[in-house]
Amino acid sequence: MHTQTLEFRSDNCGRVAPEIIEAISRANHGSAIGYGADDLTLQLNMRVSEIFETQVRVFPIPTGTGANALALASVGTPFGAVFCSPEAHINTSECNAVGFFGSGLKVTPIDGIHGKVCPDSLEKNLHSAGFGQAHKSQPVAVNLVQATYLGAVYSVAEIQRISALAREKNLTVHMDGARFANALAYLGCTPAEMTWKSGVDILSLGVTKNGGLLSDAIVVFNPAVADKINFHLRRGGMIWSKMRFASAQILAYVENDLWLRLAKQSNLAAQQLAAGINNIPGARLIAPVQANELFAEMRAQSLDQLAQHGVLFYRRGPELARFVCRWETTEEEVQSLLSLIAQHA
Ligand SMILES: Cc1ncc(COP(=O)(O)O)c(C=O)c1O
Repeated sequence: MHTQTLEFRSDNCGRVAPEIIEAISRANHGSAIGYGADDLTLQLNMRVSEIFETQVRVFPIPTGTGANALALASVGTPFGAVFCSPEAHINTSECNAVGFFGSGLKVTPIDGIHGKVCPDSLEKNLHSAGFGQAHKSQPVAVNLVQATYLGAVYSVAEIQRISALAREKNLTVHMDGARFANALAYLGCTPAEMTWKSGVDILSLGVTKNGGLLSDAIVVFNPAVADKINFHLRRGGMIWSKMRFASAQILAYVENDLWLRLAKQSNLAAQQLAAGINNIPGARLIAPVQANELFAEMRAQSLDQLAQHGVLFYRRGPELARFVCRWETTEEEVQSLLSLIAQHA
């Protein structure tokens, strides 16, 4: 029945930015030592340190799940608990990798809205956590997903408030930045302001979803954590042997603001889509659109019609659709989706 396919399933379905393919190709000459002792990985550490305005350690890693789980394993104890929002990826979609790699570390969802941890709820949970009681998992970290699963972005002030509460109880602040660049592009602040200057200790830096090929990274702001992380990564089978090719990707990703340019493109497409959906009676966005993901409620029949007309998207409930814009999503694709929604909602 449909004449065209419109891809709105996920940023995982997108292409790789040509700059990143070219960087891999440029790295493909001569020989280099493996496992991260090469020049490109050294350069990566220096460049990311410049960008974040502090000395960081960067660990390229194949997946975002690995980054989250091993980052948290490195700061936790087996009897620790990690607070997160109910929608956090570590809670909903990682097959409890945190528990597995953290040797029993417990993922503990607490209340929040739009996929965020709510500071008041964190405060309440810290108050009743039972520090020092052997009957209770001991809080060790808080996980913030930036941008959130529902497409919202924590403000710098929100990050600071949560970090301050965490700091009072010696908790580590971990940011799941699978869509870090989208959040950065939205806030217009510096990478430093969104992370360590606001109390973030360790970051899972997403690259793949925003135009990368096959590598994300863990960025560590706290040197005490960095020393342990290599052991966790190696034991987890998460250290690239031909590391220079992973590092070449991430270097190209942050160079010349490529990460921000790509994120601005997908954010803009999402903004255009949101503006259009807001004008369509029968369709309603359930969370603020601040990055590249949209969640829209419509009649189940309308969603069936969209699927029949070639729109690729995921249903998050019988009447709830998730649309994700990619760095290469065009205005024409957005307009085509909007006219189908207007026709069927
Ligand atoms: C917020 C968030 N964190 C982490 C991940 C995990 O990434 P990966 O699928 O590369 O393990 C995803 C992937 O969808 C995600 O959306």
